Amino acid sequence: MPRLFDPIKINGLLLKNRLVMPPMNTRKATEDGEVTDQHIEHYVTRASSGIGLIIIEHCYISKEGKGSAGQLGIYDDKLITGLKRLVNTIHSEGAKVIVQINHCGAQAPSKITGVQPAGPWNIIPPNWHEIPRPLTIAEVEALVQDFVKATDRAIAAGFDSVEIHGAHGYLLSQFLSPFTNQRRDIYGSSIEGRLLLPLEVVVAVKKRLKQDMPLFYRLGADDLIEGGLSLKEAQLAAQRLERSGVNVIDVSGGIGGTGRDHFSKQGYFIPLAENIKKVVKVPVIGVGNITEANYADSIVRDEKVDMVAFGRIMLTNPEFPRQAAIELGIE
Ligand SMILES: Cc1cc2nc3c(=O)[nH]c(=O)nc-3n(C[C@H](O)[C@H](O)[C@H](O)COP(=O)(O)O)c2cc1C
Repeated sequence: MPRLFDPIKINGLLLKNRLVMPPMNTRKATEDGEVTDQHIEHYVTRASSGIGLIIIEHCYISKEGKGSAGQLGIYDDKLITGLKRLVNTIHSEGAKVIVQINHCGAQAPSKITGVQPAGPWNIIPPNWHEIPRPLTIAEVEALVQDFVKATDRAIAAGFDSVEIHGAHGYLLSQFLSPFTNQRRDIYGSSIEGRLLLPLEVVVAVKKRLKQDMPLFYRLGADDLIEGGLSLKEAQLAAQRLERSGVNVIDVSGGIGGTGRDHFSKQGYFIPLAENIKKVVKVPVIGVGNITEANYADSIVRDEKVDMVAFGRIMLTNPEFPRQAAIELGIE
């Protein structure tokens, strides 16, 4: 029976336990998206807590894909030096670290990027305000290369791997969602078409990773809005992602904040993660206001998930992993 503090090996990546800090935008970057001393301080505090894995907040892979002021960037080689410093600091505290790579697509505000947002179709995402323009096929193909270049930079910076952001209504989740993707070409029309860009990105990124590096994918497994992606389609997507090279599925949900009303109950996304785990063989990460060590241990023991992500609790109480170990009687 697996336990929360048991190690887990995913390809060549050995994690000392199954506690994960999920990606959380700190808005501490410079205007150019560079790492700052505030990042180092923020992450070193959490890396020294005994946590097994830190997933660095979503980093924009191109200037047009930036979502907010202060967001970290991975769109240019000049950013590698700062990212390397961040990686080295986290490694020296004994935690593993990967980086989430993202393009905000239709949710990249023009006041941040200076250009009209672009996504699969000219539909305003839920809780959003700007009309995006549909990307051309040539632009979609170029986006795959932006993910590839971001991966090369992540490797150069020394990250243990990358997580592709395919949740929360950003570009790849916009393509997968029938709510935001109403294209009639190969990148739309059916679930196969809506999956095409996410799968192309997975295949291309996977080729750049060293052989034993596990590829993580954050999958929005339910859009929580009428006309959006359902769990049933997400299960199919998870299987296709696995077949295309994804080694860990990090399950989340909602687009642009849909379903926010449910985000307070402990384990709110665990049923989604459990249902994804039922249809894949790769390890699954579950999340959702998890604040009790015993609860987290129970969902690993019951094999509902393989790893547990602790989000806001890691912001308010960076000592949480150590306290959880004491509570569970682990040294
Ligand atoms: C301040 C903040 C920033 C976030 N930024 C990201 C992000 O960059 N990428 C991402 O996939 N999720 C992001 N999230 C979602 C978290 O990774 C996590 O899934 C969510 O907070 C639920 O976990 P919790 O209930 O334990 O906080 C963010 C959440 C918060 C609170």
